[in-house]
Parts: sequence; C-alpha cells; structure tokens
Amino acid sequence: MTARLCAVVTVALVGCASPSEDRDVSRSADPNEGRVGGPPYKSYEALAQALPKDAMGNLDWDAAVRDGLLDPLPAIDPGASGMLSLPLDVPLDPHIPGLEVVFSHETHTYWLSCDGCHPSIFAMQAGANPITMEKIYQGEYCGRCHGTVAFAADTGCSRCHERLAVKAVLLATEATDEVLGDIVMDRHSSANYQPAVVFRHWKHRRHFRCSACHPGVFEMRAGANDNTMDALLAGESCARCHDGLRAFGVALETCSDCHSGEGP
Ligand code: HEC
Ligand code: HEC
Ligand code: HEC
Ligand code: HEC
Ligand code: HEC
Ligand code: HEC
Repeated sequence: MTARLCAVVTVALVGCASPSEDRDVSRSADPNEGRVGGPPYKSYEALAQALPKDAMGNLDWDAAVRDGLLDPLPAIDPGASGMLSLPLDVPLDPHIPGLEVVFSHETHTYWLSCDGCHPSIFAMQAGANPITMEKIYQGEYCGRCHGTVAFAADTGCSRCHERLAVKAVLLATEATDEVLGDIVMDRHSSANYQPAVVFRHWKHRRHFRCSACHPGVFEMRAGANDNTMDALLAGESCARCHDGLRAFGVALETCSDCHSGEGP
C-alpha cells in the first residue's frame, strides 16, 4: 500500500475532463465480425499487437469494440435479445479534490448484465458501498474485475480518476502490467490424475461478452464453480459452447487443450 500511495504524490492534476467524453460504444455493423473463425491468436502478445492500447500501453478492449475490431456476443444463444444499456453515470467522491471517479453504467453494461454486479458486488444505491483503493487492491468492489480480468488499478489511475495524469516517469517504469485473466481450475483434475484446466479470459472475450458466462454459467469467482466431466458430457459448464459446433468439443484429441496446466 505504501508504494501505491506514493504514486499519488507523483501525479499531477490536469484540466477537468468531461466525464462522458468518448463514452459511446458504437457497434460494428457486421454481427459475425470477431466471432469464431477470426484469426486464432495463439499467444496474448499476438492479440495485443492487433488491438489498440490505452495511454499506459495496456490492451484497450473498450477501444477495440469502438473501433469495430471486436464484436463479442452478449449471450451464448445468438438469437437472445440484446443487452440493456443503461446511460446512468454515478459519481463516486472520496472527498479529495481531483480524485473524483465517475462510474459509467453505459460502458459497463456493454460487457455485463445488471446481475453481473448487482447485488453480488455492489448494492444498487449511490453511496451505499464503502469503496476504497485498499479494498480495490484486495479484489473487492471494482477490484473484482479490475486486476483480474479488466485493466489493473495500478496501471490505469487516470482511466478511473479522470483528472489524474500520471507523470511520464511513472509511465516508463510501471506501464504494461497486462491482465490476461488466466484461471487455473483444479477442484477435481489433479486428484483424478489429469493436469489442471487453464481457462483463458483473453481468448474467450474476443467472442463473448462477460454476460454470456456470468453469472448464468459461472459464478464470477475463481474456484467457486464445481465443474466435472460428467457435467460437461451432459452439455453443461464449458460444454455449453464446447459442443463441437460453437467451439471444439470433448474428445480424446482435445483433453490437453483444456487440461493444459500443471499436474500428473
Ligand atoms: C478501477 C478504477 C480505479 C482505478 C484504476 C484507480 N482508482 Fe483510485 N479510487 C477508485 C474508487 C472507486 C475510489 C473511491 C471513490 C469513493 O470514495 O467513492 C478511489 C479512491 C482513491 C483514493 C482515495 C483514498 C482511498 O484510498 O480510497 C485515492 C488516493 C486513489 N483512489 C488513488 C488512486 C491511484 C494513485 C491510482 C493508480 C495507481 C488509482 N487510484 C486507480 C477507483 C479507481
Ligand atoms: C460493473 C458493475 C455494474 C453493472 C454491470 C451495473 N451496475 Fe448499477 N451500479 C454500479 C455501481 C458501482 C453503482 C454505484 C454504487 C455506489 O455509489 O456505491 C451502481 C448504482 C446503481 C444504481 C443506483 C443509482 C442511484 O443514484 O442511487 C442503480 C439504480 C443501478 N446501479 C442500476 C443498474 C442496472 C439497472 C444495471 C443493468 C442495466 C446495472 N446497474 C448494472 C455498478 C454496476
Ligand atoms: C464485474 C466486473 C467489473 C467491475 C466490478 C467494474 N468494472 Fe470497470 N470495467 C470492466 C470491464 C470488463 C471493462 C472493459 C475494459 C477492460 O476489460 O479492460 C471496464 C472498463 C472500465 C473503465 C473504462 C471505460 C470507461 O467507462 O471509461 C473504467 C473507467 C472503469 N471500468 C471503472 C470502474 C470503476 C470505477 C469500478 C468500481 C466502481 C468498476 N469499473 C467496476 C469490468 C468491471
Ligand atoms: C466463456 C466464459 C466466460 C466469459 C465470456 C467470461 N468469463 Fe469470467 N470466468 C469464467 C470462468 C470459467 C471463471 C472461473 C470460475 C471458477 O474458477 O470457478 C471466471 C472467473 C472470473 C472472475 C474471478 C476471478 C478471480 O480471480 O476470482 C472474474 C472477476 C471474471 N471471471 C470476470 C469476467 C469479466 C469481467 C468478463 C468479461 C470481460 C468475463 N469474466 C468473461 C468464464 C468466463
Ligand atoms: C472444454 C474443456 C475440457 C475438455 C475438452 C476436457 N475437460 Fe476434463 N475437465 C474440464 C473441467 C473444467 C474440469 C473441472 C476442473 C477442476 O476443477 O478440476 C474437468 C475435470 C476433469 C477430470 C476430473 C474428474 C471429473 O470427472 O470431473 C477428469 C478426470 C477429466 N476432466 C478428464 C478429461 C479427459 C480424459 C478429457 C478428454 C477426453 C477431458 N477431460 C477433456 C474441462 C475439460
Ligand atoms: C460462451 C462459450 C464458451 C464457454 C462457456 C467456454 N468456451 Fe472455451 N472457447 C470458446 C470459443 C468460441 C473458443 C475459440 C476461441 C479462439 O481460439 O479464438 C474457445 C477456446 C477455448 C480454448 C482455447 C483452445 C486453443 O486452441 O487455444 C480453451 C483451452 C478453452 N476454450 C477452454 C474452456 C474451458 C476450460 C471452459 C470452461 C471452464 C470454456 N472454455 C468455456 C467458447 C466457450
């Protein structure tokens, strides 16, 4: 925490940017763009080269969507009705001048459905959640996603605190702390002589928004879901998509695609 608070001292206040600037997430006209069949990026580095970056050099998924480079589906069923986009900004004010945060529902409800956050992460009332940076770093509130799957707090001060401009020296030393969102799943695998399963968010979110999986198919917490091969063979869990049609299915040739972690 000490090193992070020091960062506050080295930031400079810039003009008061309008919080709603550049916020509209315009959609690509081609609903198939970016879906299965797009280039199968083998490494995160290759994907990161193809997509835009934010000021800190991190991959900017919002810009990729705005630029029409990605158009992930909101639900597994392509016929499902669209997402509810909510043009509601909620000001979050820690009462330190220059550190105001404006939470944009509009940008978040592109990726997430209401039940992705309410009530599991935030009570649905302005001011009802005692958010602090410490809790964010501990993985609570904004930190549930920012630092695990979305851009990390360390690397994006000014993306949340719009009036903070991080000095170039900080940029040079601390930029590019990429968030890949890789999760090792091993409730049953190594106990059953299989390498652990590695789930990669960066591969999946090119094709699907968070709402396709959370919270309907998977609770949004590492280790919270009890997945088994029996469930997969019954078409549940990963096999909601890994059915041989939407994505590769469960077969002898594919065991190691999912079971790619460490283990026996
Ligand atoms: C994902 C969004 C996000 C990012 C990124 C972020 N913050 Fe915050 N920050 C918040 C929120 C939300 C609050 C609480 C606002 C409130 O009081 O309601 C906050 C509060 C603060 C506070 C007030 C005291 C405290 O600890 O809560 C400071 C200081 C602060 N942030 C500094 C920083 C610095 C420095 C960075 C970059 C290293 C940073 N923040 C990055 C969202 C963010
Ligand atoms: C990424 C997380 C996230 C998602 C998704 C989300 N919200 Fe929120 N919502 C928040 C946060 C953060 C607040 C502010 C809480 C605070 O001030 O403590 C909030 C506050 C609210 C409030 C209270 C506003 C007020 O002035 O009291 C309402 C109403 C609300 N959300 C409705 C929705 C609806 C409807 C959806 C789906 C269309 C939705 N939210 C999706 C995070 C989210
Ligand atoms: C449930 C997951 C989740 C939570 C919780 C969440 N975010 Fe985000 N947020 C995202 C995703 C996904 C993006 C898209 C960018 C990315 O993935 O790097 C995003 C983008 C953003 C952006 C850039 C787009 C914009 O609106 O300008 C800001 C700023 C931001 N979040 C602030 C916050 C703050 C502040 C909080 C807490 C009050 C918060 N987020 C909580 C998932 C989340
Ligand atoms: C294809 C399905 C899928 C998509 C799409 C998806 N997730 Fe996940 N997510 C998972 C799985 C699987 C886990 C691991 C659950 C477990 O370990 O039980 C997970 C876990 C998480 C966690 C917990 C991380 C932790 O360290 O505890 C967060 C936060 C999360 N997802 C956020 C997101 C956000 C934000 C998006 C959209 C940008 C997203 N997910 C898109 C399947 C998905
Ligand atoms: C689409 C991804 C996927 C594929 C393909 C896959 N698995 Fe799994 N498998 C999982 C997940 C997820 C789990 C649960 C992970 C955990 O928490 O340990 C699992 C668990 C297991 C387990 C633990 C015991 C049990 O019954 O759940 C065994 C054994 C196993 N898999 C064997 C295999 C074999 C053999 C193959 C190839 C025929 C295979 N798996 C293919 C995703 C996959
Ligand atoms: C919402 C649909 C969906 C769900 C649910 C889903 N996947 Fe996927 N998965 C895909 C798609 C589509 C791809 C192809 C992505 C690409 O390579 O561009 C993919 C790719 C993968 C790959 C990459 C294979 C490679 O060649 O690199 C692995 C591994 C994988 N999924 C594992 C899992 C596991 C494990 C789960 C469950 C925990 C899961 N997936 C759940 C849709 C899904």
